[in-house]
Amino acid sequence: MKLRFGGVWVLLALLGGAGAAAGAEQQFKPHEPNGLALTPPMGWNSWNKFACNIDEATMRKEADAMVASGMKAAGYLYIVVDDCWHGERDEAGNIQSDPARFPSGIKALADYVHTLGLKFGIYSDAGAQTCQNRPASRGHEYQDARQYAAWGVDYLKYDWCHSESLEARAAYETMSDALRATARPMVFSICEWGTHQPWLWGATVGGNLWRTTGDIHDLWQRSASASDRRLGVLDILDLQVGLGAFAGPGHWNDPDMLEVGNGGLTEDENRAHFALWAMLAAPLMAGNDLSTMSPQTAAILTNREIIAVDQDELGIEAHRAAKSEDTEIWVRPLAGGSHAVALLNRSAEPRSVRLDWSVLNLPSYLIMDVRDLWAAKDLPPASASLTIDVKPHAVVMLKMTPARNRKH
Ligand code: GLA
Repeated sequence: MKLRFGGVWVLLALLGGAGAAAGAEQQFKPHEPNGLALTPPMGWNSWNKFACNIDEATMRKEADAMVASGMKAAGYLYIVVDDCWHGERDEAGNIQSDPARFPSGIKALADYVHTLGLKFGIYSDAGAQTCQNRPASRGHEYQDARQYAAWGVDYLKYDWCHSESLEARAAYETMSDALRATARPMVFSICEWGTHQPWLWGATVGGNLWRTTGDIHDLWQRSASASDRRLGVLDILDLQVGLGAFAGPGHWNDPDMLEVGNGGLTEDENRAHFALWAMLAAPLMAGNDLSTMSPQTAAILTNREIIAVDQDELGIEAHRAAKSEDTEIWVRPLAGGSHAVALLNRSAEPRSVRLDWSVLNLPSYLIMDVRDLWAAKDLPPASASLTIDVKPHAVVMLKMTPARNRKH
């Protein structure tokens, strides 16, 4: 049943009378925002490239590369170790890192990341085991949160494998409470794959971001075969339609980490992926090997004008404003009266896309300044409409500003 937060209590009031509703409401108090992630978090996560093949040397190398490649200067902040860092719990139940892969321990790694002016993130799971069957936090939530705080962790990604009988909202609320009890600010990343519509309750339990789908794969779009369950860039994009209203400063829809530079996408597809995620106000968590990336990949990930759209202070997610068979127009209002517009060509053939000002809810007589963000160049001012050629599997991303808003 699709009920927004608040609607649940209306339903309870109808079914059980006002007393029951008031009782239930007392049990569930929406959390105050933790003040973090006022713009979508930016960083790097180990999973998409390294999966379980991760260790402290690789983490340090990636942290170094975050600085050396210009990613840090472009706004990327969090270095997150995903699944498989875990060893066993000690006799007191404290979680420890894998002694072979992380011989110096997590505290030393977090300290190192901090010396670079970056922040450090870690991964656990609401069940008894992680997705890769490492010890997870069920029954140890407060103990783990205290350990993370003592290690200097700034960000927790909290997964949903082996969750069996758990109630999703309650499980995430428990860990959120545990994090808050430490008094150390930690971004809380809910990774529940959209299974229980976390956009309805993620912010109210204190989540800063929540995955909206299953895992991204390094491909443009899955095949038409019904047995192909992989989610490519376009498959994930399609699942974001209608979710924009739930996102905003401090609480974001998370369409999963970036595959830019991992080899499965062409240059145009990489650009399209990055542009669409920026339109969606998505967390920008790079998932490639920063230490060996090509200049082309680095140029995409550090493109200031695209990142500025992602990080726009209004935090309004793009909506799909127009759609034809192969093309779509996504529109995102920006601070200062501009719009970001993504013209998407899903097909393998060139297409020309016509953007009418009505798609922007603007009158046709308005003269608009138009900037092509990937080309980093201004197009001639236009009124009423604009027709643009878009290459196959590509996005043209525009910033449109009413000419009267021009800064002289
Ligand atoms: C799940 C998550 C992924 C990754 C893996 C790790 O599949 O959705 O993002 O964290 O687990 O095992």
